[in-house]
Amino acid sequence: MNSPSRIAVLGSLNVDRTYRVPRIPVPGETLASRGVMESFGGKGANQAVAARRAGARVDLIGCVGADEAGGRYRKALEAEGIGLEAVRIEPDLPTGSAVIFVDDHGENAIVVEGGANQAVDGAWVEACRETIERADVLLMQLECPLPAVRRASELAMAAGKTVVLNPSPWTSGFPESGLRCHHLVVNETEAAALLGRSPEDLEALPANLARSLGLTSLVITRGRAATLVHTEGGVRLALRPPVVVPVDTVGAGDSFAGAFSVALAEGLDLEEAVCFANAAGALATLEPGAQAAIPGRGAIESWIERIRS
Ligand code: RIB
Repeated sequence: MNSPSRIAVLGSLNVDRTYRVPRIPVPGETLASRGVMESFGGKGANQAVAARRAGARVDLIGCVGADEAGGRYRKALEAEGIGLEAVRIEPDLPTGSAVIFVDDHGENAIVVEGGANQAVDGAWVEACRETIERADVLLMQLECPLPAVRRASELAMAAGKTVVLNPSPWTSGFPESGLRCHHLVVNETEAAALLGRSPEDLEALPANLARSLGLTSLVITRGRAATLVHTEGGVRLALRPPVVVPVDTVGAGDSFAGAFSVALAEGLDLEEAVCFANAAGALATLEPGAQAAIPGRGAIESWIERIRS
């Protein structure tokens, strides 16, 4: 890969409170936790950290509260080397937060309180136009309001930038919202909501999706099963991630999306970019917490070497 590339990430910053539980509780059930920890998360910031550790220069666009958590979070991201000029301090809302359950198989369930993330609007995106225009790739998710995400995509596309969207959490209004992107990265649940059928039945990228969303590729991550890649040309790649025993899957999708964006920004083709991202996603499951587990470039490259040799 040539480096360093430049990535702008528009997205959320949350403080995560994670409970280890024997299983995800069902409605009406009270469970005893086996331990609790607090760490930094939020899909936007997780993806920014993933892109940074994968070797890119990264700017984050978002909002934190004027509270103690927001101050601590900014310091942590600064230490990571992430540009924070476009992270506004919002006086009237708390920093975003999330409650996370992780079960004995490393699977999770998450509830997010948007807080200051909800203050990211079209006007703030306009104010951050330069950050978007100097990036090679704009990477976004859906934890910030849809109109802001759509405006950022318009600015990036008008400037000829590559736009990668991870539409998570799934928002029913998304496909019809007019939001356009080049690469859509979804998990199996999101793929089913988008396609209305199992992604395995798909031979190529559906023409209506390609047209309405402006897509050139649809990437479907499936945990330990092969990642599927559909393009307009009908190419259907199935690329297996490395086999790991997951401890905590929180942030694995974010690690994938960040690394995938860096690989694209550095000119890798889709197959190589997905292999790079598969390794980043799998490695991110080996430690508890979203950001603590996100791998650096060296670790990603050694895994790819091991697989190829
Ligand atoms: O993708 C994992 C993230 O989802 C967590 O860090 C949590 O904050 C939610 O945004």
